[in-house]
Amino acid sequence: IYIYIYIYIYIINYTIKSLAMNPLLIPEAYIIGAQPLCSQLVGLSKGQKKLCQLYQDHMQYIGEGAKTGIRECQYQFRHRRWNCSTVDNSSVFGRVMQIGSREAAFTYAISAAGVVNAVSRACREGELSSCGCSRAARPKDLPRDWLWGGCGDNLNYGYRFSKEFVDAREREKTYEKGSMESARLLMNLHNNEAGRRMVSDLAHVSCKCHGVSGSCSLKTCWLQLADFRKVGDALKEKYDSATAMKLNSRGKLVQVHSKFNPPTSHDLVYIDPSPDYCVFNRTTGSLGTQGRLCNKTSEGMDGCALMCCGRGYDQFKATLVERCHCKFHWCCYVKCKRCSRVVDQFVCK
Ligand SMILES: *[C@@H]1O[C@H](CO)[C@@H](O)[C@H](O)[C@H]1NC(C)=O
Ligand SMILES: *[C@@H]1O[C@H](CO)[C@@H](O)[C@H](O)[C@H]1NC(C)=O
Ligand SMILES: *[C@@H]1O[C@H](CO)[C@@H](O)[C@H](O)[C@H]1NC(C)=O
Ligand SMILES: *[C@@H]1O[C@H](CO)[C@@H](O)[C@H](O)[C@H]1NC(C)=O
Repeated sequence: IYIYIYIYIYIINYTIKSLAMNPLLIPEAYIIGAQPLCSQLVGLSKGQKKLCQLYQDHMQYIGEGAKTGIRECQYQFRHRRWNCSTVDNSSVFGRVMQIGSREAAFTYAISAAGVVNAVSRACREGELSSCGCSRAARPKDLPRDWLWGGCGDNLNYGYRFSKEFVDAREREKTYEKGSMESARLLMNLHNNEAGRRMVSDLAHVSCKCHGVSGSCSLKTCWLQLADFRKVGDALKEKYDSATAMKLNSRGKLVQVHSKFNPPTSHDLVYIDPSPDYCVFNRTTGSLGTQGRLCNKTSEGMDGCALMCCGRGYDQFKATLVERCHCKFHWCCYVKCKRCSRVVDQFVCK
């Protein structure tokens, strides 16, 4: 793996300027069939194409992992003004990420987490030539008569590989110490790590019963990644409590309000205030909330007052088609009818 890492670092294109150019966030680029044709991928440097050839089997999972992260981001922010979409759709995040906001922090963390998740799982599933089942040590508190060694998610490999891969982009950059760019670089690295740690923190031991039917006298246990929704939920909490940072005179990131506890490597950090996501703004990458659905009776962020930023809303009748009157048929399928109902929908002006 270390050889790979050096090759990768060497290869990463110095000219990648923004996340919009980051192939990691354009997973479609990698998922063009079981055998990605590296030379046909757009946005890859010469060296990256070489890496793609070297690591064909990893690339698909990296792409899928980042995509899972993005989908989770859109789920977590579905009721917010910023919904994880942007003006520039050359990547899902696009230009909004040029601002070092908490939203940027979240997207870096969740996509890094998605990559750890996907690579660790791919190892377990035997999809990658350079790793297999987890070889994590047996937990000390595991009851003695339970077996350790079911095939677990290879968090160790997934963490190491995706750290090198995802962080390489930042590590390649050389900025003057104390510059704004260097602050952003430190911020990105911190948030990538927070995302990876979350996957690691939430991984747990999972067991399966054996023995005479139902007795569960014997158990086999292994390391299991948490459901990615849990990672998303937990990172969303980190987003809410993210710490504002600034550079100190020695070029290190320190918190703006020093009376609070400093952030740990498990916390999200940001350096810029969030832009106004109310109105369309190409510079900030904000799509604005015009046309967004809102909830007339909610007083939260999804309520029309906050979502529409005081501009008001239009009311529509919409027909919802749902599955209903589902019946279980022996054996084994469920048959449903389709019911439609008319609902009121509210859309921001
Ligand atoms: C977004 O991407 C789609 C294809 O992926 C393209 O057809 C469309 O023009 C793009 N929209 C913008 C605003 O760039
Ligand atoms: C877009 O945002 C930038 C930065 O916040 C601001 O300077 C500019 O005035 C905004 N443009 C519009 C059209 O609102
Ligand atoms: C996010 O909001 C924009 C409008 O502001 C909308 O066009 C887009 O479909 C939304 N994306 C998701 C994933 O809901
Ligand atoms: C709107 O918000 C109210 C109050 O929070 C909630 O009870 C209701 O389920 C929401 N409606 C929809 C369609 O989400």
